[in-house]
Formats: sequence, structure tokens, C-alpha cells
Amino acid sequence: MKDHYGRKINYMRISITDLCNLRCVYCMPEEGIEKHPHQKNLSFEEILDLIKAGVSLGVNKIRLTGGEPLVRHGIVDLVRRIGEIPGIEDLTMTTNGILLPKYAIDLKAAGLNRVNISLDTFDPVKFHEITRWGHLEDVFAGIAAAKAAGMHPIKINTVLIKGFNDDEIESFVNYTRDEAVYVRFIELMPLGESSGFAENKYLSNDEVLKRVPALTPLLIPDKTGPAEYYQLPGAKGRVGLINPISKHFCSECNRIRVTTDGKIKPCLHSDFEIDLVALHQAGMTYKEILLQAINKKPEKHHINEHEKQLLRNMNEIGG
Ligand code: 5AD
Ligand code: SF4
Repeated sequence: MKDHYGRKINYMRISITDLCNLRCVYCMPEEGIEKHPHQKNLSFEEILDLIKAGVSLGVNKIRLTGGEPLVRHGIVDLVRRIGEIPGIEDLTMTTNGILLPKYAIDLKAAGLNRVNISLDTFDPVKFHEITRWGHLEDVFAGIAAAKAAGMHPIKINTVLIKGFNDDEIESFVNYTRDEAVYVRFIELMPLGESSGFAENKYLSNDEVLKRVPALTPLLIPDKTGPAEYYQLPGAKGRVGLINPISKHFCSECNRIRVTTDGKIKPCLHSDFEIDLVALHQAGMTYKEILLQAINKKPEKHHINEHEKQLLRNMNEIGG
């Protein structure tokens, strides 16, 4: 369906757990998360009913996010049950990749088309630093497992962080020469408790084009998402720039987000939320609640206009 500003909303991103087996410094506090007693994860049944309501309104694309979606118990079963819903054309996941060696084949068989894998550095020491305890080789094992399972294209999400990985821009771009992966640089966003981390570490994605002038825009632009894609001459993969800060893409926003605890977020950069569970208990159908959320989508975000710390951490929203 269309929102108030004529945008077609067909993409639902659902955070299915706020837990994670890593602790990326820009995403989660080190000690993990404190569950408030009234907070409860949506059950599989609630997630499935919500997706069905979404499909009746024109949603055909689902992304499971986290936290780390693969730590949710029964994940393969959930993927299978979502994949069975008529009308879902694309079912994807954003993951840190660590558990893919265990699950990739089953996930693909259950109907997961593709994965986006988060990776901010090729340096094992820096990887350990940014994730607070991760091992880089686990991510590469995950990428290999996704590839072996036939997931394509594999997209790598790289948050560009000044003074941390801007010296690796060329390495990430070069990775796309021989590998058919899409490396997508994401501008660091100030979100949640970790927004202090983002201070002074934001770097516009223009930096990527400055450092690697050989990157040229795709002849036929890929309009399936917010990334602007470029390629090195003769490369097997692509380089994407996702610029939520320097050039917001709000006018093309086609998505709504659902947090782990069942709040619908019409916009990532706003604290405004609609409480799915409470409204449902009060007698509204999921479809009516979704309609309300879609109608409340703001025209655009305002992060550049006033410094504002958003309340939620990324691990509850899923990017
Ligand atoms: N800014 C930009 N990207 C972020 N991610 C998590 N937190 C932030 C942030 N503050 C990325 C993760 C993951 C995706 C879901 O969002 O690296 O790839
Ligand atoms: Fe976990 Fe992803 Fe957050 Fe890192 S960014 S702590 S991998 S949820």
C-alpha cells in the first residue's frame, strides 16, 4: 500500500531477538542488554500473523534481523514458516555470519534467499576490538558457508568508521574484484546508548569515491534498495554506498520495522513507535495496526537538523 507521501510500502524488517553473540561497540553495550520485565519477544505465531497482515497490505519482502537472528531458538523453523506464506517474494536476513556454517544449508532449504553479513574490518585484531570478542575467521567461514549453500548475491555490510577502518576502504573495494560479493559501506548513524561512540567517527561515504576514483556507477542503476552501486572495471562484485546521513533516501523509503518486543517503527530515526501487542489486546487487528503505522511514516528523518540521541539501540531494531 502507499503511505501518506505516495511511497509504496512493501518491505518489512523484523528484529527477532535483541541478543547477539557479539557486542559491536556502535551497537550494543558491553554488558549486553537488560530485559525489562514487561518486555517480551514476539512469538513465532505473532510474527507469522503480522507478516500475513503485511502481505494483505502489499508487503512482499521480509528481512529478519536482530541482534543476531541466528541465536533465536528455532530459527530454521521460523524461516520455513515465513517462506510458506503465499505472497512472500523475497526472504532475507542480516547476520554477523558466525553461525552460518551451522545453519546456511538448512536456511536455504527452508526458503531463505540471501544474507547480508556485517563485516567492518579484515584485520583480526581490529575485528576483535570492534566486536569486543569476535574472531574474524568465523565470519569468513560464514561467508563461505552462505556461498556454498547457493545464497546469492552475498552482501557485506561495512560501517565506515573514521580512524578505524577508513584505511581499509581500498581493501574492501578490492575484495569485490575476484569475489562476486556486494560490499556496502554504511554511514555511521547516531543511535541508542552507543551514539557517543559515533561522535567524531562519522565519515561520509563520499570518502570511498575519493579514495577509489576507479569506481564507476552501474550502467543500469539497481533500484531495489537504498544502496547506490558502483563497480571496479572487470570486477565480479560491486561496491554499494548507503548514505543515510549525507544524502538521506527517505523519499524512496519502502519499509517498516518491527522491534524484538513488538513495536512497529515507521522510521528508524524516530523514537515514535506503535505498540503492536497492546493495540492487538485492545481489539485492533494486525492489519489495522499496520495501516496506522504506515500512515504515520514521517516524510523524512531529521538527524542532521538537531542533535538528538535516539533511545533504542540498534540490536533491538535491526538496522
Ligand atoms: N550505524 C550504521 N550502521 C549500523 N549497524 C549497526 N549499528 C549501526 C550504526 N549505528 C549496522 C550493522 C549491521 C546492520 C544491521 O546495521 O553493522 O550490518
Ligand atoms: Fe551483534 Fe550486529 Fe550489533 Fe554487532 S552490529 S553487536 S553483530 S547485532
